[in-house]
Amino acid sequence: MNIQGKVALITGASRGIGRAIALELAQLGMKRLILVARDRHKLAEVAQQIESMGVETTILSLDLANSVNINIAIAQLWRNDGPIDLLVNCAGVAYQNTFLQSKLPQVQEELSVNLMGMYTLTSLIARRMASQRQGTIVNVSSLMGKVAAPTMATYSATKFAIIGFTQALRQELAPHNIRVIALLPTLTDTDMVRDLQLFRWVVPMTPEKVAQVLVAGLEKNTPEILVGWQSHLAVWCQRLSPWLLEQILQLATPGTKQPQDSLIKSFRAKIHRFGDWLLSGNMASLVSARK
Ligand SMILES: NC(=O)c1ccc[n+]([C@@H]2O[C@H](COP(=O)([O-])OP(=O)(O)OC[C@H]3O[C@@H](n4cnc5c(N)ncnc54)[C@H](OP(=O)(O)O)[C@@H]3O)[C@@H](O)[C@H]2O)c1
Repeated sequence: MNIQGKVALITGASRGIGRAIALELAQLGMKRLILVARDRHKLAEVAQQIESMGVETTILSLDLANSVNINIAIAQLWRNDGPIDLLVNCAGVAYQNTFLQSKLPQVQEELSVNLMGMYTLTSLIARRMASQRQGTIVNVSSLMGKVAAPTMATYSATKFAIIGFTQALRQELAPHNIRVIALLPTLTDTDMVRDLQLFRWVVPMTPEKVAQVLVAGLEKNTPEILVGWQSHLAVWCQRLSPWLLEQILQLATPGTKQPQDSLIKSFRAKIHRFGDWLLSGNMASLVSARK
C-alpha cells in the first residue's frame, strides 16, 4: 500500500501501539489521521505532535463499547471529512485472571471493546470503502490469537475471533478491492501490560517497533503480520509440536511459583519421546515432504 497522501482512521490512538502507529504513519507522509479513543486530552496531545509534522488530524473521542455512539460519530465524520483509505482497529482491553475467578463486567468489556467495537466500526467504514472500490483494514489481534495462554481466556478468545473475522472479511471484501490484514504483536511495553503478571521468558517489544513492522507488512501486502522472532518461534512450535508449546506455556504462566517436579519430569519425558521420534527417521521424511 502506498501511504503517501492517504487518510487513515486509527482506534486506540491515545497511547501505546495505536499512538505509535499514528506517529509512524504521520512520518511516512499520510495526508490526514483520524484519531479515536476515549481520552480527549491524550488524543489532543498526539494530534499536536502529528500536526507539527505537517499532517492534518481529526479527533474522535468515542467509547467503542457503545455501538450507538459509534454510529453517530461515523455519520458526523462522513459529513465533515472525506473518504478513509486505511482503517486500523487497534483499541483493546485485557484483563488477567484465572477462569474460575474471572469477573463478568471485565469479560463483557473485553468482548464489547475488542470484538463488538471493532465489528461495528468496520461494518460502517467497509461499506464506504466498498463504494469507493478501494481500502485497507488492519485488525490488531495478538500472538494470543494464535497461541492461547492460561489466565487470559477471554482476551485470547477475542484475539482468536479477530483472526477468524479478518480471514472471512479478506475473502468477502477482496472483490471490492479492500485488503484486510491482521497484525499480531507479541508482548509490548504499554499501559496494557503494566498491571499484568508477565509470562516468564517473554521479552517485551517497543510500540514503535510494532508500528514499523506493520508499515513494512503493509508495503509487502502480508495478510497476517507477526511481530518479533518470539511470535514466529511460538507459531512454528505450535504447528510442529503443540504439546511442547503447551508445556512451555504451563512453565511460563505467572503464578506457578516454581515449576513442580512432576511437571518437569513429564516435560523431560516428552522431550525424550520427541527426540526418539526425530531419530526414528520422521524428521527426514518431514524434510523430504517439504521439498
Ligand atoms: N501490549 C501488548 O503486549 C499487546 C500484545 C499484543 C496485542 N496487543 C493489542 O494491541 C492493541 C493496543 O494495545 P496497547 O498495548 O497499545 O494497549 P494500551 O496502551 O492499553 O492502549 C489501549 C488503547 O485502546 C483504547 N481504548 C480502550 N478501551 C477503549 C474504549 N472502550 N473505547 C475506545 N478506545 C478504547 C485506549 O484509549 P482510551 O483509554 O483513551 O480510551 C488506548 O488508546 C490492543 O488491541 C491489544 O490487544 C497488545
